[in-house]
Amino acid sequence: MAAQISPSILSADFARLAEEAKAVEGADWLHVDVMDNHFVPNLTLGMPVVESLSRATDIPLDLHLMIENPDRWAPQYVEAGAGSITFHAEAAAAPVRLAREIRAKGARAAMALKPATPIEQYEDLLPELDMLLIMTVEPGFGGQPFLDIMLPKIRRTRELIAKHDLDIWLQVDGGVSATTIERCAEAGADVFVAGSAVYGAVDPAAAVRTLREQADVAIAAAPWVCDH
Ligand code: DX5
Ligand code: ZN
Repeated sequence: MAAQISPSILSADFARLAEEAKAVEGADWLHVDVMDNHFVPNLTLGMPVVESLSRATDIPLDLHLMIENPDRWAPQYVEAGAGSITFHAEAAAAPVRLAREIRAKGARAAMALKPATPIEQYEDLLPELDMLLIMTVEPGFGGQPFLDIMLPKIRRTRELIAKHDLDIWLQVDGGVSATTIERCAEAGADVFVAGSAVYGAVDPAAAVRTLREQADVAIAAAPWVCDH
């Protein structure tokens, strides 16, 4: 499984989003953090910005909905142009119905877990999902330090995916950088969100390439990859 990098525009200049998308050309996804000031104590952007951004870039949008009531809003975000929609397990009233609706509308369906939410209770839901997002910080802000205490959860999640022989991507988000990405990959992650590590770099596109190379090397040597 090749590593994928999803730069988070939370660390970009919100007045120049189209240019900031161009600055990470070659990225696999563009990570868009939608925050409603209720589910998390921060407010970012909504439907009109997602619609405009999807017209302004060819990079598929990876939407991370940190909002209450994703059951109501997520399907509309597919129509706004998202290629992947991640809702939070803690906020979804009916995650199975929601994941099915997202897939039926043509996007990848993903579910995110805050640091204190265990994966085990969701084992039976895994076949409904295309990706799991394990938060490696408390959601709400960019630039926070990576939580090493999440590595065992990444490992257990990768084991559950393998146990059920599923093709589910495992994304990490929060504090992912040149110094932490290898740990994440070694533990089982294959999709990496990076905000400050990409947009804080002098050359964001080069930062994406370097992160991907590091992750690819770590994945190739990782214990969870079965073909070695
Ligand atoms: C935080 C967001 C992240 C954020 C990550 O709640 O979900 O996507 O942009 O930023 P960094 O990579 O700087 O920790
Ligand atoms: Zn995010």
